[in-house]
This record gives sequence, C-alpha cells and structure tokens, in this order.
Amino acid sequence: MTDKHIYCPNPYILAEIMPFGNVYPCSCGWIKGYYDEIWNGERAKEFRQKLYDNDFSLCPGCQNLEILQEIKDSAPKLISEPPERILLGLDEYCDVKCIFCRAENYKINPNLIPKDKEDKLLEILTPWLKNAKYVKTNAVGEVFASKISRDLIKDIAINFPNIKFEIITNGIQCTKENIEQLNLTNRISMMTVSLHAFKEETYNKIVKGGNYKKVIENLHYLSDLKKSGQIERFELHYTVTSINYREMPDMIKFARNIGANIRFLGLDCSRDLEELYKKINIQNKEHPLYNDLVKIVHSKEFLKSKDIIIQGWEYFTGLEKISIFNKLLNKYKKGL
Ligand SMILES: C[S@@+](CC[C@H](N)C(=O)[O-])C[C@H]1O[C@@H](n2cnc3c(N)ncnc32)[C@H](O)[C@@H]1O
Ligand code: SF4
Ligand code: SF4
Repeated sequence: MTDKHIYCPNPYILAEIMPFGNVYPCSCGWIKGYYDEIWNGERAKEFRQKLYDNDFSLCPGCQNLEILQEIKDSAPKLISEPPERILLGLDEYCDVKCIFCRAENYKINPNLIPKDKEDKLLEILTPWLKNAKYVKTNAVGEVFASKISRDLIKDIAINFPNIKFEIITNGIQCTKENIEQLNLTNRISMMTVSLHAFKEETYNKIVKGGNYKKVIENLHYLSDLKKSGQIERFELHYTVTSINYREMPDMIKFARNIGANIRFLGLDCSRDLEELYKKINIQNKEHPLYNDLVKIVHSKEFLKSKDIIIQGWEYFTGLEKISIFNKLLNKYKKGL
C-alpha cells in the first residue's frame, strides 16, 4: 500500500438517499452495490478502505474528479461523523421528458416510494437530518412538480431551521410564488437550473413538454436573488450532445449575464436509451461531430475560465484543464 493516495471527501460528508431508500455515499449513481442505512456499517467502512487504498473499482465513471485530492496520510479513517449533506432523490416524478433522461413521461408512472412510507418520510429521515447542514433535492425528478418533494421540503424547512437547501430543477416552476410557498426564502445555498440550449428551438428538441420562455423568466428572477445575496451559489447545468454543443459558447455568455456559473455535463449513457445515445453521444470519439466538440472545448475561453466547469467528458476530450487529476489517477488508480 502506498502512503500517498487520492482522497475523496464524499464518503465522509455525503449521503444520497434514493428511491426505495437505497443510500449511496456519493452524488453519482455509478457506485454499484452499496446501499446501507448504516453510515458506519461494514459496507461503508469497506468502501472507505477501498478508496483509501486507491481502489476506485466501485466508482466506475466517477464524474467528480475536481473534488479529489492527493494526500499523504498515515491511517485510513473508516468511521465518519454523520453526513453533513443529504441528497434526497426519492421521487422520479417530472413535469417534462428530456430525451436523454427517460423514455417515458414519468407523470404517468407511479412514484417509487411505497405508499405507506409517504407520510412518514420526515420521521424516517429525521435521524439523518438532525446533523445535516445541507439538503439537496431532487436529483432524479422535478422537485417543484412533485407533491412528495414539495411537502418534504416545506416540512424540513420548518422543522430544521438551520438546514440550507441545494435545489436542482428544470426551472419551469421555479417561480417566486413556489420559492415562498416552500419556505425557501433565504434558505438556498445552491440553485442549479438545467438548461440545455441557448435557442428555444433547440430546447424544444431536448425538453419535451417544456416551457423555454418560463425558464428564462425564472432565471432572471433567480439572478436578482443571487445579486441580492439571497442565493449563495447559482449554476446552470447543460448536458452536452450533438444537438446542442454548438450553442455552448452562447450559453457561457448568457450564464455570465445572469451571474451564474455553468457546468457542462457529459452524457451518461448507462440508461436504457441505447439507440438515441448512439446518435447524440458526441463525446464518443467515433461520433462524426466529435472533432468539432473538441475544437470548442479546447478554445482558450474553455481552458482559462474559472466559471466554466466541465464534468464527465474530460476522459474523451483530453481537456488539459483537469489533466492533473488524470495524472493522479494514472498514478494510483485501480478501477477508474
Ligand atoms: C435527472 S435531472 C433531475 C433534476 C431536474 N429535473 C433537472 O432537470 O435539473 C438532474 C440532471 O441530470 C441531467 N441528466 C439527465 N439525464 C442525463 C443523461 N443521460 N446524461 C447526462 N445528464 C443527464 C439533467 O440534464 C439534469 O441536469
Ligand atoms: S471517487 Fe467519485 S464516484 Fe467515488 S465516491 Fe468519490 S466522487 Fe463519488
Ligand atoms: S427535467 Fe430533469 S428529471 Fe425531468 S426529464 Fe428532464 S432531466 Fe429528467
């Protein structure tokens, strides 16, 4: 075992609670076979030991390279304080259908929380929430469209006045009225809005049943909240595909205008949409437009700007910005 190794903070600070109560030590759904309601249970300890040993085999496709650090440490820390961030992804219900997210419109799908647990969610989550500083929701569905998510946020906001919220939304229902109704005023530490196009016609190709104008209107409202200090961090999410990659430079300008950072996400092709991914997965070197994408992300603007975050396709583009992590991983990795 080497005494220098890669340190990932997530297994010590973060718990993601997913449909059916599965718990993951990370915001990425790639971790296989880890779910355990016991934060310091055997599986959690095993997981921490593995990462300490630079074995990332349980994290195939980690997209969080920017949080990894190289450290020198004498002993693995297997027991952890309770998580300070709780990610609640309990309900996949959504008011739209983005083509790369789901094949079905989940408005007609039942939610994945057993009916008898719905009313007891707050009670079940209380032991976790007592120690948490941040609650992030909802990474698997649309927070403002789901009654379950809305009720839960309202209850958490009232019962845990020190908790701050990290909201991820498609932006359509992220209005002043909704923020006030959910008791989120002055409680948002991070607001993330997914907007995968600069032009309305491109947005409509990706977000089926969406409302581009409403999202833009809401973004301007959120921009005002950010300017007045009512939101601590403000970010746009943009999943890059062959449909929208040309609009990336315009989106950077737009994000700057509204005072947001922008995060470009690679396409996660692990879902059951194989045929579509073949067509739109521009991060694949075999894709006919791959070299066009590389030209864009290798421009000076992309390499130098601190407000642009590129997550997930650095493997494919060889982007120099994070090459320090690739070097680290090559040095120590066993599974990534
Ligand atoms: C599943 S959504 C849930 C939160 C909210 N409904 C929204 O759209 O932001 C969270 C993020 O996952 C992204 N996403 C969904 N499917 C994806 C895929 N196949 N590859 C990459 N990102 C994806 C979305 O673009 C969005 O930014
Ligand atoms: S290495 Fe990556 S996938 Fe694994 S816990 Fe850390 S951030 Fe998550
Ligand atoms: S809005 Fe979010 S949850 Fe809904 S389909 Fe799009 S990416 Fe998925």
